[in-house]
Amino acid sequence: MDISSYKPTGRITNKHMLTLRDYTAEEIYEILHTAVMLKQKQRAGKKHEYLKGKTLAMIFSKSSTRTRVSFEQGIKQLGGSALVLQQGDIQLGRGETVRDTALVLNRYGIDGIMIRTFLQSDVEELAKYSACPVINGLTDDYHPCQVLADLLTIYEHFGKLEGLKMAYFGDGNNMAHSLMIGGAKVGMKGACCSPEGYTPDPEIVKIAESCGNVSVTDDADEAARDCDVIYTDVFFSMGQEKSESKIKSLMPYQVNEALMAKASKNAVFMHCLPAHRGEEVTEGVIDGAQSIVFEEAENRLHAQKAVMYLLMKNKK
Ligand code: CP
Ligand code: NVA
Repeated sequence: MDISSYKPTGRITNKHMLTLRDYTAEEIYEILHTAVMLKQKQRAGKKHEYLKGKTLAMIFSKSSTRTRVSFEQGIKQLGGSALVLQQGDIQLGRGETVRDTALVLNRYGIDGIMIRTFLQSDVEELAKYSACPVINGLTDDYHPCQVLADLLTIYEHFGKLEGLKMAYFGDGNNMAHSLMIGGAKVGMKGACCSPEGYTPDPEIVKIAESCGNVSVTDDADEAARDCDVIYTDVFFSMGQEKSESKIKSLMPYQVNEALMAKASKNAVFMHCLPAHRGEEVTEGVIDGAQSIVFEEAENRLHAQKAVMYLLMKNKK
């Protein structure tokens, strides 16, 4: 299937966006197709206030630049408004339960909730009690919104998704998990290349394998071979303590010029950002000609506008 030939339905059966596991390939295409349409409108300066008067609440228990700004700017461009709720400013940060928080927000006419937090189970609990759609803006296990932006970026660059090979190098973290699932769903070949002790969660690998073509390896040469997309992420995710032994284990998986040379000639480099130059990636690669990290960061805006539009518009 191709985004350009995909016939949009304007519908999505899911109410929430908790992980891409819950989305079919068609629904992912629906989001990407909508993102392309919204990006064109924004670029052309055409109004697209499809969520006029709607309110998105954004709960942050971790830091953010891209997620915070792209969701807030995105809902504004769609004609709505955002409420930013930092964990330290709300009672959730002082022990109020997720359930009570959801039941209270239900009383204030909120139309959507974006949450960035630690436990995936908290996002699921919020969704269970929320009267409106809940969007996962990153947990320790998943980062689905980032991967939707990544797929959009890859599609724009290569004109297709199906059949491309994407390899992720480094810590088997939330990005590794969501990339494996999202890539597999749309027919990409995915490899996760991590050293012992830092491999992705085996249960999530099983989920990804059930979605399509995924492999896990510690062999960087094998993972990079014929690769179209080389991806990495930080050694230490938010909430993790720095450790010298982790740096030592992950350094051989650094994305550097030598690793890029092993990939396909036209391969691109991607990173969800923020990046630590000199750790997971060299300056030469991230600031070099093969890097598309800022297109990728921009696409957070367009992909998330599509998610908000499809989940929060009035369902017929
Ligand atoms: N990639 C990403 O989610 O960035 P932020 O942490 O800045 O939101
Ligand atoms: N793995 C990183 C992603 C940041 C966008 C983290 O969780 O901190």
